[in-house]
Amino acid sequence: MKREDIVVGIIGLVMGRHHLESALKCGVNVAAICDIDEAQLKKIGDEFGVPEEKRFTDYHDLLNNPEINVVLLVVPDQLHLTMTEEFLAAGKHVLCEKPLALTREELKGIIRATDASDKKFMVGQICHFTPAFIKAKELLDSGAIGELYYVESEYAHDYHWIMHGWRRDPNRHGVVGGGCHAVDLLRWFAGDPEEVFAYGTHKLLPMADYNDATIAVLKFPNKVIGKVFVSTGCKRNYTMRTLLYGTKGTIICDNKSDTMELYTVEEDGITVKKEPEIIPIEINHHNTGGEFEVFAESLINDTPVEMDARQGAKTVAACLAIVESSMTGVPVKPDYEF
Ligand SMILES: NC(=O)c1ccc[n+]([C@@H]2O[C@H](COP(=O)([O-])OP(=O)(O)OC[C@H]3O[C@@H](n4cnc5c(N)ncnc54)[C@H](O)[C@@H]3O)[C@@H](O)[C@H]2O)c1
Repeated sequence: MKREDIVVGIIGLVMGRHHLESALKCGVNVAAICDIDEAQLKKIGDEFGVPEEKRFTDYHDLLNNPEINVVLLVVPDQLHLTMTEEFLAAGKHVLCEKPLALTREELKGIIRATDASDKKFMVGQICHFTPAFIKAKELLDSGAIGELYYVESEYAHDYHWIMHGWRRDPNRHGVVGGGCHAVDLLRWFAGDPEEVFAYGTHKLLPMADYNDATIAVLKFPNKVIGKVFVSTGCKRNYTMRTLLYGTKGTIICDNKSDTMELYTVEEDGITVKKEPEIIPIEINHHNTGGEFEVFAESLINDTPVEMDARQGAKTVAACLAIVESSMTGVPVKPDYEF
């Protein structure tokens, strides 16, 4: 497929607004935008000059449009399964927002649908495209901090004003909905957690029926240990502060700063250098442009996607294990069989 042959439809236009902007910048043809909320459809359509005939309130109009070969699903998590099934069955490639889904049954359904299809499916775990995290992964893989032994990440994001509608679904626990970013990031750095243990508390979001703060400790392969903290009611700016500790150095970074720190050791291999290297970083914590470009490349070159349905499902499985542990008070081994 050539870039000019990619014809996109975008469904859901809140976060989807950023995807629309990215698709247009990426130089592909946007044939349709869709939102059941007419006011939102008009607002985004007008903002980006999308002609009236390309605006839809019913996603079935995109499903039945043979011109569209790629859809971006930017709708509530509860709709990811049905729409993925329908669009793959209609022969469209799919880029679906995170979290892949909210329950094991839905995860299995999406994997079944992707296995049965010859179209590409990618889940948008956006931290893989965040400049600081890309750099941290490069440094880690280059051996800059030696052998990894501890990783931690936090997802601190105040949901107070968006905590309504589908986000109040008890299945949409903060660890799954937003915390999946931190869990996915640590899976990227350290592999699939083998066991987790967690505590939770509930002091900030009275409108939610589940904990709004959770801390989990995790056991990764190769004797790496880790920690994830998720707070969806926190009174601070949004951040995903992330630390990687290795036998020869340490990386300290986040998704909102224009620098990151790299500690390394002297030639003796033991003494830590007095000052860390301060590495300048572009701030781009919702890099939908980088995400779409990588997906487009996999379509153009017919190569595997960055994160397939199984990867998305493993992240959610680890999140579900954290939620379970926080409720039962016992360690849980994530179930990665789908
Ligand atoms: N990657 C990220 O960092 C990130 C950030 C925010 C949200 N998300 C994910 O993106 C998705 C959407 O989140 P959001 O914040 O935009 O939610 P939102 O509720 O603010 O907006 C969803 C939009 O989808 C529309 N919609 C709902 N059902 C629809 C349907 N059947 N057909 C067409 N449109 C429909 C709604 O009218 C609304 O405009 C979720 O999966 C969410 O988890 C990801």
